Amino acid sequence: MPENAGTGARWVALHSVNVRVCHWINVVAGAYLLLSGIHIFLDFPELYWGHTGYQGYPAIFRLADWGISWDEAGAMGDRRWGRNYHFTFAWVFLVNGLVYFGWNVATGRFRDRLVPRRDELAPASLGRDLRAHLPWRLRARSAATSYGVLQKVSYLLLLLVYVPLMTLTGLAQSPGFTAAMPWLLDLFGGRQSARTLHTIGTVVFVLFVAVHVLEVVAAGAVNRIRAMITGRFRLPAEES
Ligand code: HEM
Repeated sequence: MPENAGTGARWVALHSVNVRVCHWINVVAGAYLLLSGIHIFLDFPELYWGHTGYQGYPAIFRLADWGISWDEAGAMGDRRWGRNYHFTFAWVFLVNGLVYFGWNVATGRFRDRLVPRRDELAPASLGRDLRAHLPWRLRARSAATSYGVLQKVSYLLLLLVYVPLMTLTGLAQSPGFTAAMPWLLDLFGGRQSARTLHTIGTVVFVLFVAVHVLEVVAAGAVNRIRAMITGRFRLPAEES
């Protein structure tokens, strides 16, 4: 509910406790997953396609082609540290994501706040939102307390496509899981293909976070990040 703080500005409740706690757990888990994933990759700095891959086998990506030899990469990476933290935070990320998703669906917030309305998906509406982003005019939306259609679509792709794909390509690399679920290997055409797709997904994650943080900064970092911590969002005086 809007509330006047006596400063000419109004404060509105924007993010629930569930969203805030899950979001920041995700940020910590995401950071550990990225760092530990890089450590694991550096220990075996080549990518292959299909079922087979080993040093000397034709690779589709070699860090050595970018000036870092196998031994130099191995010296930078720590597979044991990487694996311990990667597997720990993969479960944190997944369970936290399921709690966030389950709570959002159960309360109807998912439909109200994250699923685009039919009129928002009309080409004219998509074009308008895209134009508002391209010339970096996000500040014009800075007081908005609802998500734009492109923002909704990117969050939905993250939750419903990206996270399941990263989970499955991760599990497809685990001999324990593929012994119980061999169809995982067929799904991606081999353990090496799953590893390559998982690595491409990591690059997509870095791009998502970079764009996400830039958008937050463009839309007013202090107000947006404070709202994601305290739940309260400050509407500018002219909007009050
Ligand atoms: C330091 C890094 C990050 C910062 C500062 C940040 C900040 C924010 C802020 C301020 C919002 C609210 C946007 C608004 O009100 O318009 C938000 C929403 C969101 N962020 Fe992040 N974020 C970060 C990293 C991440 C990561 C790593 C993920 C996913 C793995 C993520 C996923 C999301 C999602 C899904 C939402 C929508 C939440 C909802 O309303 O249900 N963020 N973020």
